[in-house]
Amino acid sequence: DMGGHDTYMHKEIHEQADAVDRALRGRIDDRFSTVHLGGLNLDAREARAVRRVKILGCGTSYHAGQIGAQMIEELARIPADAEPASEFRYRNPVVDPDTLYIAVSQSGETYDVLAAVQELKRKGARVLGLVNVVGSAIARETDGGIYVHAGPEVCVVSTKCFTNMVVSFGLLALHLGRTRDLSVADGKRILAGLRKLPAQIEEILANEAQIEELAKEYADAKSMMFIGRVRGYPVAREASLKLKEVSYIHAEAYPASELKHGPLALIEPAMPTVAIVPDDELLEKNRAALEEIKARSGRILAVAHSVQEKADHTIVVPKNEHELDAILMGIPLQLFAYYTAKAMGRDIDKPRNLAKSVTVE
Ligand code: F6R
Repeated sequence: DMGGHDTYMHKEIHEQADAVDRALRGRIDDRFSTVHLGGLNLDAREARAVRRVKILGCGTSYHAGQIGAQMIEELARIPADAEPASEFRYRNPVVDPDTLYIAVSQSGETYDVLAAVQELKRKGARVLGLVNVVGSAIARETDGGIYVHAGPEVCVVSTKCFTNMVVSFGLLALHLGRTRDLSVADGKRILAGLRKLPAQIEEILANEAQIEELAKEYADAKSMMFIGRVRGYPVAREASLKLKEVSYIHAEAYPASELKHGPLALIEPAMPTVAIVPDDELLEKNRAALEEIKARSGRILAVAHSVQEKADHTIVVPKNEHELDAILMGIPLQLFAYYTAKAMGRDIDKPRNLAKSVTVE
């Protein structure tokens, strides 16, 4: 039942405020400015002993892991990174007993992720799951974990589950941070930020008419460039994947700083750029990248916390705590991908060549 929506993708985009609310419910601990994650099976001593975090997933879940790794580094100051599960399992990785491994998956059935988990367990590693489907294979094979509670996701492309994964990583980063050096004051600040998310998501979705107009305006592009820096880069990657999947427009994502090392050669009016421009310590650097693109007469759509003069258009999103900004900045671009695909008459819920759950190698 699509409840009045024309596609599951549209319905699921609109379910995100409720979904995030579910991810937070019952987990916030105001007394100690932290969160309780019941299924983690990691006591404070074990949490403190973690020297490194390695996050494994595929596609959108890998992108959620990239944002998660940044949050864990920022809030808990534990070195963390994400890698596609398939790459990890085929390169005979060094498995380190002091590393906490986290497998991320909506379905909990993705074969490459499951195989990575099994290989890690065989080598004695501790593996947690960050999974949506309760009781799925990855949830069963891991030592503990976090259910992201996005609810059933029917559309082949992931939207609300991505958001709930990133929120769940925020919870984990806060939890790990508060067993280490994150102060009570910073814990309170992050909790306040998390609590603001559902209302801010509603605010973004209320801007849908502007995004629909912009999608029509850019739907003639043959290819699009997505750029971001640090927190904005995985957001750009995920937005680029979403556009490719549902509209079949070619898109590339690059760190904004890498533009001048090659891809700037592609910039011309037929190759518009979507730029993620949070109002953080990198704002001036990002503005400089917009200038470089404008100087090559590239069209720019910015997703930012305030209107960007160098951009042709800006989608303004509400500001949260800077550590959590990545959670919100991709949401308008889910709608952008949806409306672009709609303008092109695509089969939005079932893009060609794709399956919801990839249970083969
Ligand atoms: C993108 C998408 C895929 C999945 C990937 C992993 O919209 O849906 O990239 O994210 O196949 O699937 P899960 O999360 O089920 O392991």
